[in-house]
Amino acid sequence: MTVSIAVTSGKGGVGKTNCAVNLSLSLTKMGKKVVLFDTDFGMANAHILLGTNPKRTAADFLRGTAGLESILSDGPSDLRFIAGGSGLLELLNLDNHARYQMLQSLSDLENEIDYLVVDTPAGASESALFFASAVAVPLVVLVAEPTSFLDAYAFIKAAHIEKNIQNFSVVVNMADGSAAAKANFDKFFEICRRFLDVNLHYAGMIPMSHAIRRSIVKRAPIATGQPSSPEAKAFIALAKKMVNAPLNTHDGIRFFSP
Ligand SMILES: Nc1ncnc2c1ncn2[C@@H]1O[C@H](COP(=O)(O)OP(=O)(O)OP(=O)(O)O)[C@@H](O)[C@H]1O
Ligand SMILES: [Mg+2]
Repeated sequence: MTVSIAVTSGKGGVGKTNCAVNLSLSLTKMGKKVVLFDTDFGMANAHILLGTNPKRTAADFLRGTAGLESILSDGPSDLRFIAGGSGLLELLNLDNHARYQMLQSLSDLENEIDYLVVDTPAGASESALFFASAVAVPLVVLVAEPTSFLDAYAFIKAAHIEKNIQNFSVVVNMADGSAAAKANFDKFFEICRRFLDVNLHYAGMIPMSHAIRRSIVKRAPIATGQPSSPEAKAFIALAKKMVNAPLNTHDGIRFFSP
């Protein structure tokens, strides 16, 4: 079985892409077969963090000029990767039918991979909601700021009400220690529970870190570049939590649906 995970947040700039890249690499280090798919078509930049420059992207696939195998490129640590193809109007204006085609074509990977990790754009746009609700596990990246709480809540509310999603995992990023991160998760869960019938699963925290900032500048992800650092260990802990995350099994449009 392939488990699909979408990294989302509502708010922009909270660390989704960095989490998607390092979570994917941590899963490969645990021996899992992983594909990372960048669906932030407006500002695709997972390839920048990965330090790769793929020749073909999701845009080539959608134009019909490349098959699935040729848009899959090799990243570090046996990770395979589908780049988003930045800023192309045709991708920004994708309709649900084209998104569905993309999703369908990935079902060919079902017997080959253990995890599909999807990086999504900020906001609660139709595209962000489509991919986040088509996975088994939406992973919400939260930071300890009221704007992040508000936008993450708005995203969860939209996914729950419009797409009937029940289970969400949450990672607290840029955290000031484990205790503060857990306290922020508890506070956020309390707010969600007050108004929505959803289940939030605590997936741990990633510390606020200069080493992470430097790794992005160097285009050398921390999970592979500095594997014994506390940050890389935090990503391994996140990957382990994701292996045990509660899955959504709704009947809507889904990756790898039976
Ligand atoms: N744990 C962290 N510690 C310190 N800085 C971080 C951390 N995580 C992310 N950042 C910083 O935040 C910036 C934004 O990260 P990233 O691009 O992953 O966010 P994003 O949510 O994907 O943004 P967007 O919404 O634009 O796609 C990074 O360039 C990095 O400098
Ligand atoms: Mg991003």
